[in-house]
Amino acid sequence: MGFIRSICVGSLSVVSAVVLVPDGRGLASAAEVVHVYSHRHYGVDEQLNTLFTGKTGIEVKVVNAEADQLIERLQAEGESSPADVLITVDAGRMQRARKEGLLQPVMSEVLTRGTPAELQDADGYWYAYAIRARVLLVAADRVKAGEIRDYEDLARPEWRGRVLVRSSSSSYNQALMASMVSALGEKRALAWARGLAANLARPPQGGDRDQIKACAAGLADVCLANTYYYGLLLHSADPAERAAAGKMRLIFPNQGGRGTHVNVSAAGVTRHARNVANARAYLEFLVSPEAQKLLANGGQEFPALMDLTLNPTQEKWGAFKVDTATFRQMGEDQPKAVRLIDAAGWK
Ligand SMILES: [Fe+2]
Repeated sequence: MGFIRSICVGSLSVVSAVVLVPDGRGLASAAEVVHVYSHRHYGVDEQLNTLFTGKTGIEVKVVNAEADQLIERLQAEGESSPADVLITVDAGRMQRARKEGLLQPVMSEVLTRGTPAELQDADGYWYAYAIRARVLLVAADRVKAGEIRDYEDLARPEWRGRVLVRSSSSSYNQALMASMVSALGEKRALAWARGLAANLARPPQGGDRDQIKACAAGLADVCLANTYYYGLLLHSADPAERAAAGKMRLIFPNQGGRGTHVNVSAAGVTRHARNVANARAYLEFLVSPEAQKLLANGGQEFPALMDLTLNPTQEKWGAFKVDTATFRQMGEDQPKAVRLIDAAGWK
C-alpha cells in the first residue's frame, strides 16, 4: 500500500489566519523561548523561525549538528538538556530517538489533520512536516524514456561508469539502503550496493547538487538526488546552475512496484523539555499553511499538508507513488544498511 503525493485542491498562496499562542498563556512575553536541536541546514529555516517569533513572541534558539550527534548529546545531557525540540531529516533517526526514550508524545489534532498518517509516528512522538523523495535524475539528451525506471537498475551492467551518487556516509543514502534492505532482504540489497558501487563514474564526492551538475556536464548519465536539491538548482540565482538542472530529467523510481523512497523533515518534543507549550506551538506552526508554503517555495520540499497544491515546479514533476511499506522499517534497518554499505565497498 502507498499513497500518491498528488496535486490537490487549495493553494500555496493562501496565507494562514491561524494565530499560534501557547495554551492558556496568552501572548508570550519576550522571555519566551524554544530550544531546537536540528539536523536541518537550509536557508529557509531562518525565515521560518523569524516568522514564528513574529507570530508568537517566542524566540527560537537553534543548535545545528548531525542527527546522530544530537541524539548522543541528548543522551549525555539527560534531564539537564536545554533542548525542547529535536528535528532531523530522517524518520529512521526519529524512530531511534523515540526508542531510546529521548522524546515525549504530543497529542495535537493540528499535527495529524491533513498530514499523511503513513509518514507519522503512530503515537505522537514525532511529526513529519515536509517530504522529500530520493529520485533518479538522468541526462535528458542521453537517456531515453523508459531506459531506467527503478533503483535496482542502477546496479545493472549497462550502467557501468555512468552513475553518480554522493558518499554512503550521507544519511540520505543510508535511509535509501535501509529501504532496499527492507524491500529486497539483506543478500539482494548487498548485491545491489555492490553493483551500484561498481557502476560509479568516479569515487563519491560532494553533495547531491554536485552529482546533478556533474551529470549535466557529461561525467555520467544518471545520479541519485533528493528532489529539493533539483528544485533549488532549477530556481538558483546562478544561471549556470539553472542551465545544468535544465539538462536533467527527473524520474520517480519504482512506480511500477513499491513506490519511490521518501524521507521527511520531522520534529518531536524532547523527553525533558522545559518549554513544552512553546515546543508544541512550534511543531504546530511548522504544519501551518504559511510555514508549509515557505518550506515548499523557499526550500522546494513537498508540503506535508496534503490539501495544499504543489508549487508549479513540483506540479510539473507530477504525482508519484510513495513507498510507505519500507518507511516504517527505516529505523530498524538502518544499522544493517550501514554494515552492508561498508561490505559492498560503497565509499
Ligand atoms: Fe539536505
